[in-house]
Amino acid sequence: MDQEQQPQAYPHVLLFPLPAQGHVNSMLKLAELFALAGLEVTFLNSDHNHERLVRHTDVGFRFAKYPRFKFETIPDGLREDHPRLGVSFMELFESMELRTKPILREMLVKINPPVDCIIGDGALGLVLDVADELGIPIFQFRTISASGIWAYFAIPDMIEAGELPIRGNEDMDRLITRVPGMETFLRCRDLPSFCRDSDMTDSNLQLIAKETRKNLSAPGLILNTFEDLEGAILSHMRSKCPKIYTVGPLHLHLNTRLAETNGTMVHQSPNSLWEVDRSCLSWLDEQPKESVVYVSFGSIAVLSREQIMEFWFGLVNSRKRFLWVFRPDFMPEKGSIPAELVEGTKQRGYMVGWAPQEEVLAHCAIGGFLTHSGWNSTLESLVAGVPMICWPYFADQQLNSRFVSEVWKLGLDMKDVCDRRVVEKMVNDLIVDKREEFVKSSAEIAKLAKACVNVGGSSYCNLDRLIEDIRSMNR
Ligand code: UDX
Repeated sequence: MDQEQQPQAYPHVLLFPLPAQGHVNSMLKLAELFALAGLEVTFLNSDHNHERLVRHTDVGFRFAKYPRFKFETIPDGLREDHPRLGVSFMELFESMELRTKPILREMLVKINPPVDCIIGDGALGLVLDVADELGIPIFQFRTISASGIWAYFAIPDMIEAGELPIRGNEDMDRLITRVPGMETFLRCRDLPSFCRDSDMTDSNLQLIAKETRKNLSAPGLILNTFEDLEGAILSHMRSKCPKIYTVGPLHLHLNTRLAETNGTMVHQSPNSLWEVDRSCLSWLDEQPKESVVYVSFGSIAVLSREQIMEFWFGLVNSRKRFLWVFRPDFMPEKGSIPAELVEGTKQRGYMVGWAPQEEVLAHCAIGGFLTHSGWNSTLESLVAGVPMICWPYFADQQLNSRFVSEVWKLGLDMKDVCDRRVVEKMVNDLIVDKREEFVKSSAEIAKLAKACVNVGGSSYCNLDRLIEDIRSMNR
């Protein structure tokens, strides 16, 4: 074999996340794990998000230590001032299919050195299409839980059994019987939010299921979860997709592997698209142990002024301390943060535009997390052993909150209710009245999470296996 035909010493992997905070964050952690293992890595980010990532973080500096790591960017096709939030978030998919897909195709044809393997975001079907078209091996990565994927997968069976679509006058507490492994606890209201959208016809729902089925038929599916957490659902999934690599919780996994190299365990700077306000850590330093409720609704949720006021009154009336992340774009209505809310918060609370969440959750002053149940937030809370009050906003979050409350017993589920009295009662239950039982199960699950990313643990071994499988693809 002459020099030119020899495979590269380091296989070249390209990762392409859906341009959203939760996806960029977890895929960048996976990318760093690959870089640590010595692979050649290209991380493809949307222009819009990359500019924000560079502006608000030290990624340039952090990744400079990996000589074979580089960032590339691609347009998402939306105008610069598009909100990319709430309902309008869905416009991303159409725009990327139309405008990003041809650019990706051209980029992959020209890229040097050629890409040996793509890690596509399973929520972004266009990556799989282009990889198949160009004959590039691809693994799919889903940023949601195994259970979330499994529920999407079961949509055709639910339709066939008449359990979907959900009608306007539906009993939302009715049990769903057609998602294997969840028959005893999954109610109508726990299904992913798309299942209850009034404009969701059978064919729209079938489309979601079809995309999910593509994930399971990929040569390999990478998940940010771990065997001890979702083993029962994973064994159902493996009957459809034998090659599943559970490598999570990725943030903990990365911290652990970096500690192997550096000798100390540190929290990595968040891969944030907003400016992180670290002043909340000093405020937390002054609060008693386990006394503060951390409140955050993630990166996509937008709430009405009425909903915000219900949460705020509930928190204030509970007389507990709280730290609230109030993103600049969290409330779409004019007037930004209501003045009475800012003033009234000063007594027992603190507000920031964006927090260093992993560090906040690990702080000893935190006693609970009022969360929208995004999958990253759920994992971060679970690793920190912090019990949760769940108020799911959309997508897989409705299902995550059911698992948190009913299966893992890590907290309370407030879905479909936004009432100050309920908020007050649940905050008191979490911090005082029912604290003991939640803290006990949270500590147990946190211990399992730590074990799985340590040498010999399931996620640790699965990541090594995945890297070996990627190496074997060196073309
Ligand atoms: C959405 C979905 O709901 C989620 O389930 C899916 O997996 C990804 O897309 P999002 O609203 O972004 O997620 O929530 P989440 O998955 O929880 O991710 C938010 C990320 O932002 C977390 O990693 C969290 O640590 C980080 N964050 C949030 C901060 O760093 N600071 C903050 O102040 C708030």
